[in-house]
Amino acid sequence: MKFNLRFINDELRKIKSQNLYRRLRFSNVIGSHIIFGKKKLINLCSNDYLGLPSPKIRTGQNQSSSRLVSGNDSSFKVLEKKLARHKSKESSLIFPTGYMTNLGTISSIIKKDDLILSDKLNHASIIDACKLSGATISIYKHNDMHDLENKVTQKYKRKFVISEGIFSMDGDFAKLKEISEIATKNNCTLVLDDAHGDFVIGKDGRGSAQKVNASRKIDVYISSLSKGLGAFGGYVAARRETIDFLINTARSFIYTSALPFFLVEYALKKFESNRENHRKKLWRNVDSLRSGLVSLGYQIDSPSHIIPIIIGNEKKAMEFGRYLFENGVFAQPIRFPTVPYGKARIRVSLTALLSKKDINNALLVFGSAGKKFGVL
Ligand SMILES: Cc1ncc(COP(=O)(O)O)c(C=O)c1O
Repeated sequence: MKFNLRFINDELRKIKSQNLYRRLRFSNVIGSHIIFGKKKLINLCSNDYLGLPSPKIRTGQNQSSSRLVSGNDSSFKVLEKKLARHKSKESSLIFPTGYMTNLGTISSIIKKDDLILSDKLNHASIIDACKLSGATISIYKHNDMHDLENKVTQKYKRKFVISEGIFSMDGDFAKLKEISEIATKNNCTLVLDDAHGDFVIGKDGRGSAQKVNASRKIDVYISSLSKGLGAFGGYVAARRETIDFLINTARSFIYTSALPFFLVEYALKKFESNRENHRKKLWRNVDSLRSGLVSLGYQIDSPSHIIPIIIGNEKKAMEFGRYLFENGVFAQPIRFPTVPYGKARIRVSLTALLSKKDINNALLVFGSAGKKFGVL
């Protein structure tokens, strides 16, 4: 191996010795189940929260070009109009992924001399975007309004508060009512990444801010089409001139190929489908699994469809996950650096696809796993 790359072997050895090694596994999803080789498991790891049926879509030649060149299929126009209305904003813009939406939007509208107030548990894509902006980043304790109020008084001409709506690894709701009041009082622009709340929560699935009547206080609304909607892509909804500015400056929008038209149409048809019954089913499943886990003796703090079961030690979390796997349940252990070191967990995410039987079967396995690993 060339000298410059020799460090890779050392780093890999270190990652393995810390029980943090990750490997790719191939799988196929069928309904509420996931298949690895010959093994079929109940899938508690999907972000396709509503489990909407797959719509029929057009096929054909893809433009394979940036949206600013020839990749701007007319289906973008229809979906972006609907997404803007969905968020009660003037305009919206679709990016190839939610990650790229954060990267392009945040690094375009926030500049070097600005201040960002960012929740400690914000997603990696927000963290990377904040770094890219070059602004001063002030991290407030997770969902701690006292800490946010202290930090927001720093003297900067332009200040931004950024939070997730539903935190992706803890499943708790951001205190959006309070955050929006603090942002307004201190003249801050409020950016919300609601990748996990969009389509899932609030009236008509309009998201976390709608749930607490704070939609109007969100200046820039970022989300993913790959989770609640079970399609693919990301989008930002904001005032018309903000979107116009992003079209002109967001590098992860300009310098990349457009989402293929068949994925835009896929998202559009799912958006137009009857989502309400699926939402109701999802929340029934959340209630069943949560109350089942609590009666087994687990301490569950999450109020949402993302339910972390905190194990702590990385190795134990891996063994716990393996036991679930061997007994027909797929719920992935999550470790550092995705969550803090020593706070490894089994992250359960629920979908409307799961049947009552799936949930009862999963609970049986969680019961025996909890006893075996001394978690209960
Ligand atoms: C809070 C949050 N924002 C953004 C993203 C990125 O979305 P996408 O998967 O569409 O890139 C994720 C994905 O995990 C997320 O959890």
